[in-house]
Amino acid sequence: MARRRIPPFETEITGLDDRGMGVGTGPSGEHVVVRGAPPGSRVAVVPFRRKRATLHARRHALIRPPAAWVDPPCPRFGVCGGCTLQELSLDAQREAKHQAVLDVVGPAPTVHPVRGAPQATRYRNKVELGFGSARYVPEGRYEKGVTVLDGRFLGFHAPGRFDRVVDSDVCHLISEDAERLLQAARGVALTEDAPAPWNAREHTGVLRHLVLREGFRTGERLAILHTTSAADPAFFDRFADALLAAPADHGRLVGVVHRIHDGVSDVATGPMVAVRGQDHLHETLLGRTFRLSPDSFFQTSVEGAEVLYTTIAEALGRGGTLLDLYCGAGSIGIALSEHHDRIVGVEIVPEAVEDARRNAAANGVHGTWVTAKMEDATGVLDEVSGPRRIVVDPPRAGLHPKAAKALAATQADVLVYVACKPSSLGRDRAILEEGGWRATDLWTVDLFPQTGHTEAVMRFVKDPA
Ligand SMILES: C[S@@+](CC[C@H](N)C(=O)[O-])C[C@H]1O[C@@H](n2cnc3c(N)ncnc32)[C@H](O)[C@@H]1O
Repeated sequence: MARRRIPPFETEITGLDDRGMGVGTGPSGEHVVVRGAPPGSRVAVVPFRRKRATLHARRHALIRPPAAWVDPPCPRFGVCGGCTLQELSLDAQREAKHQAVLDVVGPAPTVHPVRGAPQATRYRNKVELGFGSARYVPEGRYEKGVTVLDGRFLGFHAPGRFDRVVDSDVCHLISEDAERLLQAARGVALTEDAPAPWNAREHTGVLRHLVLREGFRTGERLAILHTTSAADPAFFDRFADALLAAPADHGRLVGVVHRIHDGVSDVATGPMVAVRGQDHLHETLLGRTFRLSPDSFFQTSVEGAEVLYTTIAEALGRGGTLLDLYCGAGSIGIALSEHHDRIVGVEIVPEAVEDARRNAAANGVHGTWVTAKMEDATGVLDEVSGPRRIVVDPPRAGLHPKAAKALAATQADVLVYVACKPSSLGRDRAILEEGGWRATDLWTVDLFPQTGHTEAVMRFVKDPA
């Protein structure tokens, strides 16, 4: 039997879920989630999907703004889909995120006040943009015959639309110098004589992604152009020339990298085929300098990362070996190395492990870094003898069940779980607790102002077996 369509309705937005969606109540008491609906507001919504007990709805109109309403700083607000919390003051965003973390992670004996770096905009040191032949125009703004839908575009992927990009020459999360690189890239890559942009439906076209990375402290910037193998090398030369000629107030573009991706998946990856200048950049964090390859993970806000790492240091305490699991380019272990005798890191991306080893040597840090999937490297937990402390910082999906089980069974002075998706911590916490770990402290660290994302840190201790 066909499901009854639920007509539009109004709802009070009482909080956020851990993806930053506004949460309200439907006409029959349903749990409602609405993208871009700020807590404290009343919104008119149009339901579009029911999934289990949750009604997903689109924001149609803001009936009553929240008390902490501010004018959204970005001209693409409401279209791009990336910074859905811009209508709330930074303090109100943080309080709402803190509550969302508590809702999905659960309580702890000590819950610390929410933390974050002071910058609300222009804090992001990495942005990944997509080329596309189809432009996203939000509902209600499409004018037949006026709005161009097909052409050459560069911007962010529209929420829920893999095949359309929100054409953009600005982003208030990246620096003004990075914005100038974006504008220079558009000037050379969206013209008639440039290779065609990727068509995600037909799997045709040549230009795929542009990744911009930046060391805020060092002023080094890196641009990475991803194309299919059909790209003419002469185009990459023109592209690199245009970006290198872009003006900058601070620092400089140290390299332009060309990578090839012929597959249909929409991921910015693939072998490097040409480089102008360097194929890496450097950044400084808590007094240590890090070399970063195009694929090496690094926290996207350096100021925010310092708040996060200081929190991790507080949670870990000092002494023994530090097991830095899911270590990326080694930044947590290396930044906190003065507090520990030695570091053992595990990370899946080989380039990141090479960076970690180089970064350790350059900073005079002792340790071992292993390239492995954590779920296949649980033996490392038995190999490290003596007093040890563990930090795990997995990707959004959280711990693989095998890794969670091994961590639950192991002994250490303390285990600190750093979560970029708090609900993954909420799930993994239960597994750790079954193994005898006890949560003592919970912190919310807002690394991503304006967006619905947040970081949670939980400290666990275990009574000796
Ligand atoms: C959230 S990042 C943390 C990186 C690092 N701790 C930092 O603060 O910069 C997660 C890291 O886990 C790595 N990773 C993803 N899946 C993994 C797995 N199964 N085993 C080991 N590392 C993995 C990613 O490549 C990434 O570097």
